Amino acid sequence: MQLAMVQDRVMPLEQLDAAHLDRGLFFGDGVYEVMRSYNGRLFAFDDHMERFARSLKAIEITNVDLADIRHKVAECFEKAAIKPDARVYFHITRGSGSRSHAPGAEMKPNFFLTVQPLPDATSQKTNGIKVCTYPDQRWKRCDIKSLNLLPNVLATMHAKRKGCEEAILVDDSGCITEGSSSAFFGIVNGRLRTTPLGPNILPSVTRKYIFMCAEAIGLPIEERSLTPSEAKKAQELIMGVTTRDVVPIVEFDGVRIGEGKPGSWTRKLEKQFQTYV
Ligand code: PDD
Repeated sequence: MQLAMVQDRVMPLEQLDAAHLDRGLFFGDGVYEVMRSYNGRLFAFDDHMERFARSLKAIEITNVDLADIRHKVAECFEKAAIKPDARVYFHITRGSGSRSHAPGAEMKPNFFLTVQPLPDATSQKTNGIKVCTYPDQRWKRCDIKSLNLLPNVLATMHAKRKGCEEAILVDDSGCITEGSSSAFFGIVNGRLRTTPLGPNILPSVTRKYIFMCAEAIGLPIEERSLTPSEAKKAQELIMGVTTRDVVPIVEFDGVRIGEGKPGSWTRKLEKQFQTYV
């Protein structure tokens, strides 16, 4: 008899809920998105859907109706009626089936979504956050928003243990790539410095809008990654992520940044960001 056991419950395999056989669980074989609303309206919906489509294509999940996903996301968001600010998480995995690296030919993708209130970030945005570095131990396709997040989780656990809000990942050549779940920027010599897009970082939606903000406020952009020693000497440091948009960083590996409080470029970027919101 084929058996399964879930926690303490033993059952014949055929009675097992297919959710337990999800390839997302066995292999991280899926991709996800995190979107948010401001004042009851979803922000940058198209940007997130475009990136989601790109991620699906990159991992060769081709049998998904993206118009249907778009409809599902919008519908659930409206139904939840969480105001003013909500976080919408969703993922698609390749499907459910007996654990085998090769997926079955007839596999049907699984969709999962949650809508929840967005955690309050007022204090982080007002006072700034502390960050610390951690080795970037991820794979070579970090531009895909895949469910495989173990290195990101370990990096974040390290940061929390150190009393920091975010881990800043440093690659083998000693360059900063991005945060464990955020984009990373510095103001260096009057320019906005950040890692160029490539397979080593996620094409962050917030990054795109921060670039638009920089152009609008006359802050030149330089797409060149920083080293930790450059970051420590930066005029300002910034974390960018959908759930909190522009967050000032006031401490990096125990070193105070600028005057230890959110800098003026950061404040201008935040203000400009609100105009897109
Ligand atoms: N994280 N880089 C990484 C590795 C990320 O996981 C994220 C987002 C970002 C910022 O991307 P965006 O600006 O599109 O949110 C950059 C999401 C929120 C998460 O995993 O929860």
